[in-house]
Amino acid sequence: MGTGARPPSLPRYPPPLLVAVTTSLAAGPAEAQGAEEAARRHALPFAPRRGRRLAEVAAEAGAEVLLVLSAGRVGCWAEGAERRWDPGMGLLRAKRLRAGERSTRDSFLETALLRPGERVLDCTLGLAADALVAAEAVGPEGLVVGAEASPALALLAEQGLLRVADPAAARVQVHAGDALALLASLPDRSFDLVAFDPMFRHARQEPPGFDLVRRLGDARPLPPEALRQARRVARRAVLVKDGTPGWDLARLGLTPLPSARGAHRLYARIDVG
Ligand SMILES: C[S@@+](CC[C@H](N)C(=O)[O-])C[C@H]1O[C@@H](n2cnc3c(N)ncnc32)[C@H](O)[C@@H]1O
Repeated sequence: MGTGARPPSLPRYPPPLLVAVTTSLAAGPAEAQGAEEAARRHALPFAPRRGRRLAEVAAEAGAEVLLVLSAGRVGCWAEGAERRWDPGMGLLRAKRLRAGERSTRDSFLETALLRPGERVLDCTLGLAADALVAAEAVGPEGLVVGAEASPALALLAEQGLLRVADPAAARVQVHAGDALALLASLPDRSFDLVAFDPMFRHARQEPPGFDLVRRLGDARPLPPEALRQARRVARRAVLVKDGTPGWDLARLGLTPLPSARGAHRLYARIDVG
């Protein structure tokens, strides 16, 4: 890696936040029922909106974060402001792929080498950006299952993807729970690609503001056992992403593939075929 720097220790994230689910002001009884059911599925408390400001709902529920479900969008209220959930660059990347645009490089796609009809297990769903791109790449005959250990992020991804008007979104199945437990339950060679994009250790300055993944995500480092299981479950390859300089790849004994100069992300691919 050549930096000589010591990796920052993990976890470097604040303790888990108290999360509750509510609805928009305009939500009717059917939406409120849908939100309550989603909350129950993800074992999160439901806080009825009852025409109140989000700060009041949060105060009564004892929540620091509210996941706000409405007919057309999914939001997250925290620190006095509501932000809309969206899959980051995922939609744009999926659209570029659909349009056959080759001018912008997508390091995930270049490394994953996905083919139509493949089955992908994304063990770190997050905002579902990579999962959306994978779903576009594998097409209608393929499948993407995204595991997410954070109940709040799993609910946001599940409900957000339902509201995304993109055909690829409908091909992503959200699995709420720990990827390691899921992997252990899966048969040998049951997915073509198993992908990991764990939370990076950040030596860089954190961006200001509330970052959904950083504040709600599961920051545990990828255990070697997860890699071992992934090699068993994968038919073609296991992909691991890391931030530069690749501290976690080194810890796992993986060698990063060559990357573009100045890249912030590194990938290792274990071909198991
Ligand atoms: C860096 S984000 C992934 C971002 C994602 N690739 C995307 O494109 O949006 C890492 C995510 O993995 C989740 N995670 C970490 N460990 C996990 C585990 N053992 N099982 C399932 N999800 C996990 C975190 O909660 C976080 O949401």
